[in-house]
Amino acid sequence: MARNIEIQLSFIDTRPEITLVLIHGFPLNSMMWWPQINGLDRIARVIAPDLRGFGRSEPGNVKPSIRQYAEDIKHLLDQLNIQEPVILCGLSMGGYVALEFYRRFPKRVRGLILTATRASADTLEKKVDRDKSIEIITKNGVEAIAKPLPASLLSNHHYNRNDELLLTLSEIMENVSDEGAIDALAAMRDRPDSTPDLEKIAVPTLIIHGLDDKIITVKEARIMDELIPNCRLEFLPKAGHLCNMEEPAAWNLLVTNWIQEQIV
Ligand code: MLT
Repeated sequence: MARNIEIQLSFIDTRPEITLVLIHGFPLNSMMWWPQINGLDRIARVIAPDLRGFGRSEPGNVKPSIRQYAEDIKHLLDQLNIQEPVILCGLSMGGYVALEFYRRFPKRVRGLILTATRASADTLEKKVDRDKSIEIITKNGVEAIAKPLPASLLSNHHYNRNDELLLTLSEIMENVSDEGAIDALAAMRDRPDSTPDLEKIAVPTLIIHGLDDKIITVKEARIMDELIPNCRLEFLPKAGHLCNMEEPAAWNLLVTNWIQEQIV
């Protein structure tokens, strides 16, 4: 209802009151969220940024960190004049950013969706892998690490039969610069462990994980679920790491139901 001097006018405003911010994984960009931009726009205002150095976002002058990515998102929300708390969703690297954002700006968040992600920091072995990937990109360009990635990003089910998704994925991965990828690998390598903060999460949280995720184990999803107080854990049987793209209808339904039950 809008109050003017004489009467209260009733009106329909199609712009939903809930804002859903979707943070992409590595080495992707906002385009990985097309099934959500199209499928969740009736339940929420959907905002999907490209992190600096990815997609159409500039790399900027400072070397990014996970903290910097989180600050960039806060600045974006400020610029858009969105002061009301949002639902923050991150896939994999995007989840690392979402946890950092929540740590720094908890009042700006009304719900968290953590998908195909983990709370722990890189192990020593993983840090060595990151450095190797940085070396490969420096010598041969980002294509050298991007080309073999789909086999680990997708479940066997989708890798073996979803040619359309494979094509989309390779198109999306063409939009990261060598510099953007190197910076993100260093940012992930140096990120802190978020596990001690999980029990302090005071907003409803939804975890969605593909049962055939070859990058982040089901066990890591379960650990987050055990430690976050108000948490729901859902598995998608046929999905791998890119579960929102592999099983979009099921992923969107889980989110829609959770928003209706926990947030609205
Ligand atoms: C991602 O999908 O964002 C990455 O695989 C995360 C990581 O390498 O830790």
